[in-house]
Amino acid sequence: MRFWKWIGGLTGLAALAGIGVGVMVGVPVADGVDRYFSSNKFCAQTCHVMEATVAVELAESAHGTTSSGVVPLCRDCHVSEDLIGAYFDHIKGTRDLYSTLILGIDTVEEFEKARFEAANRVRMHLINTDSKNCRTCHVMEKIKPERTRGQRQHSEAQEKNITCIVCHYDLVHKETALSDEFDAVIGSY
Ligand code: HEC
Ligand code: HEC
Ligand code: HEC
Repeated sequence: MRFWKWIGGLTGLAALAGIGVGVMVGVPVADGVDRYFSSNKFCAQTCHVMEATVAVELAESAHGTTSSGVVPLCRDCHVSEDLIGAYFDHIKGTRDLYSTLILGIDTVEEFEKARFEAANRVRMHLINTDSKNCRTCHVMEKIKPERTRGQRQHSEAQEKNITCIVCHYDLVHKETALSDEFDAVIGSY
């Protein structure tokens, strides 16, 4: 009896230790991996096509040339901020965005043909997440648009819960046509 209790205790202890090690080792490793895959280096240098297109576009955009020097990374707009969300996005969003786009796409010409599809996917993702990534930096209530058009539309946005991407598409990349699906969302307000 005693022996089995002892063994049982030992197994429990081993299991606990296992979980402990898992937590200690697993999390930093996971975090490191995540950082690598979320870094601009992964997408913009590994993927030369991205570097020649969307990365240049970002660099020339208002977000790439802020006077404060706060310049968003790809992941700030395209990957969820929390780790679990980030993994989910790597499986879902990032695979959509980078891998499926990049897999079999080796040239800028091929990318340009796929751009419409890709832009739509990103836009619909922002619709479905209430532009969550934008809100990690921008607080709606604190934005003070300079011109009256902006002020008017921002108070309308808050009244009707209209999400950022509905108005701020073609934000940092080359202008891309709107899909019927996205157009329908805009038209619903
Ligand atoms: C990493 C932080 C960050 C993220 C994420 C971010 N922005 Fe910005 N955004 C900025 C900064 C910094 C500026 C420059 C603001 C300034 O100079 O006051 C800016 C400027 C803007 C502007 C004004 C310039 C322009 O391009 O017209 C708009 C509109 C805007 N952001 C919308 C968005 C939307 C929509 C998203 C999500 C798709 C987003 N931002 C994501 C930091 C961010
Ligand atoms: C209903 C449309 C609409 C929605 C929704 C909307 N905006 Fe805007 N926003 C505008 C317009 C219009 C302007 C003014 C643009 C101009 O004057 O060039 C503006 C201006 C801005 C500016 C620049 C402020 C300035 O003038 O310096 C920022 C930053 C911004 N929006 C961010 C956001 C973010 C982030 C969201 C979501 C949380 C959002 N907007 C939602 C229409 C909208
Ligand atoms: C400030 C937010 C923001 C940043 C930073 C950003 N993107 Fe985007 N990206 C968008 C939005 C919004 C779209 C959806 C298309 C649109 O309406 O602009 C998009 C679309 C795309 C697309 C689809 C093709 C297209 O032209 O729409 C790709 C690919 C892409 N981004 C890659 C990147 C890469 C790579 C980086 C970093 C070098 C990056 N993005 C940085 C906001 C951002």
